[in-house]
Amino acid sequence: MEPDLDAFAADLQARVLKDAREVYSEEVVRRWLDPPHAGVIGNPDAHARVTGPCGDTIEVFLAIREGHIASACFVTDGCAPTIASGSMACDLALGKTIAGLREVTQEGILRALGGLPEANLHCALLAAMTLHEAARDWAAHDEQHGEET
Ligand code: FES
Repeated sequence: MEPDLDAFAADLQARVLKDAREVYSEEVVRRWLDPPHAGVIGNPDAHARVTGPCGDTIEVFLAIREGHIASACFVTDGCAPTIASGSMACDLALGKTIAGLREVTQEGILRALGGLPEANLHCALLAAMTLHEAARDWAAHDEQHGEET
């Protein structure tokens, strides 16, 4: 990259980060830039893909061991708050039972993220709904689980 282009890219990145920090909490910015739990689980024990009214989609993958969430991953085509919400939803899901996933709510995700702007409150709702849908996916295949987890 040409030096001028390097400087331009660095300046642009700094401005984008500055703007983001004016709108979002540090936790949201941190998870947006380097989201824990981003990715997929091959052959997951439970899975859900939900598209919100805004058109953004979150997909959640769960690995379940002895009735508890051993691993949770997500992918999304959404914006920074959606990424942060998906990441936090997976964090909050870890160690819970399938029934316990109901405790991961929009409010809990928002609290853990340090809040979101009014226009992005639904991002946390979409993340919680996707997790709950994954719990339903598990329940729908309940008879197949047997002693496997
Ligand atoms: S803007 Fe719609 S889920 Fe984030």
